[in-house]
Amino acid sequence: MPPREPILKDEPGTLEACADLLRKDQLVAVPTETVYGLAGNALSEKAVRRIFNVKGRPLIDPLITHFKSAAAAFTHVHATEFAETLAEEFWPGPLTLVLEKMPTIPDLVTAGLTSAAVRVPNQPLMQALLQQLDFPLAAPSANPFGYVSPTRPEHVAHTLGPKIGAILDGGICRHGIESTVLDLRNSDNIRILRPGPICAQEIEGLLGRKVQQAKVSKSGKEAQTSPGQLTKHYSPNTKIEIVENGQLKFPLDSGAAVVANKRPLGIERDDLYWLSEDGDLAEVAQNFFDTIQKLDRMGYEALIIEAAPEEGLGVALNDRLRRAATR
Ligand code: TXA
Ligand code: MG
Repeated sequence: MPPREPILKDEPGTLEACADLLRKDQLVAVPTETVYGLAGNALSEKAVRRIFNVKGRPLIDPLITHFKSAAAAFTHVHATEFAETLAEEFWPGPLTLVLEKMPTIPDLVTAGLTSAAVRVPNQPLMQALLQQLDFPLAAPSANPFGYVSPTRPEHVAHTLGPKIGAILDGGICRHGIESTVLDLRNSDNIRILRPGPICAQEIEGLLGRKVQQAKVSKSGKEAQTSPGQLTKHYSPNTKIEIVENGQLKFPLDSGAAVVANKRPLGIERDDLYWLSEDGDLAEVAQNFFDTIQKLDRMGYEALIIEAAPEEGLGVALNDRLRRAATR
């Protein structure tokens, strides 16, 4: 394994090399359909401790455990009827379920909570890797704690590259924003802890009942009972200003870059960017973190970013945008 070029292309032997590293408690950045994950053996305290260290993540913020199948996941958490229904419909896919854990998942992974967050990812290389291993993978997003999430292998190389064993190159992530996190422990009070690619309406339609949207909180205390809800998250170094959907204005010589959802017609400017030609929200989401990472390295004084319409995938996008803008 060449130590200075950790990005591994999908070639013969690559998956075996990654599996070997993981068996030795090393970390591998893995592609998923949402964002890149910083993966280690979820059942090894040594590997899990490394994840927290490399990411600079506080030990009170629990990790998601990734399994090759629903059957594998449900040997480590207590599935409810709704969990089985959702797994059947959405796994493999960008939905994370919070359920009561069994003792097999180390307390370090769940930050001492009695619950665990589990998901079955839908990305061919990640799936093939999980199939080779006889343990699940704990993986937070592969960014330094608080920084923008990575959607390309280069993003990981740029921030965590020298600190990890390898980066498995799966190209750009299809969804581009993290999985929906759903707390299913109480069937009478199902809560979305983090909006994502699977939206509330889809879940409600399948389960035939309402789901609550957990409130975002700045307080560390509440962050522990409802972890991952810290307002500041996903932040670039460059300041972000949010403009309501459809309200973009173009300041002259402001030193800022302007980021629209769809290509503004008839305006030619070097400091104007768009996330989709026609405003398709799936495309906006896929390009969102990628564009912010790119612009963050270009020396702009600020990024003026247009919010998405607050519906469907737009809910998750605006959640990320608001957090990215919080300093
Ligand atoms: O799409 C994703 O979910 C990506 C890919 C790599 O799978 N992973 C990811 O992990 O976004 P991370 O660590 O950046 O975010 C995990 C979220 C956090 O908000 C965390 O607080 C929450 O899941 N979480 C984990 N375990 C939990 C638990 N037991 N109860 C409540 N929330 C939990
Ligand atoms: Mg993250």
